[in-house]
Amino acid sequence: MAVAFYFIERLLLFYLFYLYPVFGVNLLMDAFASPCRGLRRRAPRLGAGPSLKVGILGAGQLGRMLALAGARLGLRAQFFSPSESGACAGLGHRVVGAWNDRRLLGPFLFDSDVVTLENESLDLATVVELLPEHARLWPSKRTVDWISDKLVQKRHVLSAGFPVGAFRACRTVEQALQAAKDLSFPVVLKGRGDGDAGYGTTWAHDDSQLRAAYGRLAQRGTVLLEAAVPFVRELSVVVVRRADGVDDVYPVAHTRRTDVRCDVVEIPAPCTSAVAVRAQTLAREVAAAFGCVGVVAVEMFELASGELLVNELSSRPHNTGHFTIDACVTSQFENHLRAILGWSLGETSLLRPAGVTVNVFGTREGRADKRGAEEALHVSGAVVHMYGHESVRPGKRMGHVTVVGDDLDDVRWRAREAAGRIRP
Ligand SMILES: Nc1ncnc2c1ncn2[C@@H]1O[C@H](COP(=O)(O)OP(=O)(O)OP(=O)(O)O)[C@@H](O)[C@H]1O
Ligand SMILES: [Mg+2]
Repeated sequence: MAVAFYFIERLLLFYLFYLYPVFGVNLLMDAFASPCRGLRRRAPRLGAGPSLKVGILGAGQLGRMLALAGARLGLRAQFFSPSESGACAGLGHRVVGAWNDRRLLGPFLFDSDVVTLENESLDLATVVELLPEHARLWPSKRTVDWISDKLVQKRHVLSAGFPVGAFRACRTVEQALQAAKDLSFPVVLKGRGDGDAGYGTTWAHDDSQLRAAYGRLAQRGTVLLEAAVPFVRELSVVVVRRADGVDDVYPVAHTRRTDVRCDVVEIPAPCTSAVAVRAQTLAREVAAAFGCVGVVAVEMFELASGELLVNELSSRPHNTGHFTIDACVTSQFENHLRAILGWSLGETSLLRPAGVTVNVFGTREGRADKRGAEEALHVSGAVVHMYGHESVRPGKRMGHVTVVGDDLDDVRWRAREAAGRIRP
């Protein structure tokens, strides 16, 4: 009997002091179907400051810039993504796994104080299921569900009473042809999923172009077909919003595109101050209607009459808000973190009257060439951001350059010149 007790005691001690500390979470995971549900690590220490862990779903350039902003505040970033990426190398612990890999995702979430994402097109079902009680997910799954599907998003914008251009949901190519006839060519076709920097958006000027575009975009069954909006310019407004509804808004940016891809962002936007104020109000209202928490970018069309139409939104830091890093008191990345942690929001005002950000895209396939960044630094005032991608392909966002100053023309010239010297 005594021998049996002795062995049981040894076994217990071995488990408690060796197995549990090292493999504890995994053992518990194997024991329960939903591993971290209901486990309490400790009360959330929101507001406590240093050493909070931010779990970032995704490991691309937005994750990178979030981690860099968080480091200044003493936050630690960790990344979960389905594939390796150079963008977040050295910036925090990285876990590579599928979005529904419960064995990897459970401990990752359990080890985070707050969880956020850099892309709305990921499957959040398992994340929400495994999210432990002490961690929060912002933006919420409800917000992401409204945003990730462009058709659901558009319908939600419309039903919330905001102005949008005419659109139709088309289940067949015949419906699309009829819709194009009703709205009249040219029309814009969009897949329902991830925008991927304009790749999901195609113009059709006639029936044959429409048939070709439809075939390409119809993977999710329905294609969103929009009337071409005759805008005078495109605007983007970044809002930062906390769960308790406290929000703030950045200066309105003028986004300029080559083809359908945004390549230059200029501040201030050359619209009247009345339009700018309306754009900021509209963006705040849209962010509230989607229950967004963190940073939200609302892209809009400005018509010749000054009327504004909502094009689309993202509930996360956005490419059109990168100017905030160098041009504003608080960057969109820092404010995103402050908002999801429930901390006080940082000032959003401009440091200088003008700022221009020029995106740097890949133009070839292969290994990235990092030497061009040094060339760009010779341009006075150029702040160069390279995203650390190891490989390049045509159209891939590789970095951006921001220049701020007093005169928009001068700033624009320098930003374009610097960005043009980077040939990744
Ligand atoms: N209905 C429309 N009328 C006119 N132009 C449009 C329309 N819809 C989209 N565009 C043009 O195509 C661009 C890309 O469209 P949209 O923003 O909806 O797609 P996206 O694929 O998410 O792009 P991105 O990721 O670059 O924002 C818009 O910024 C605009 O220039
Ligand atoms: Mg867009």
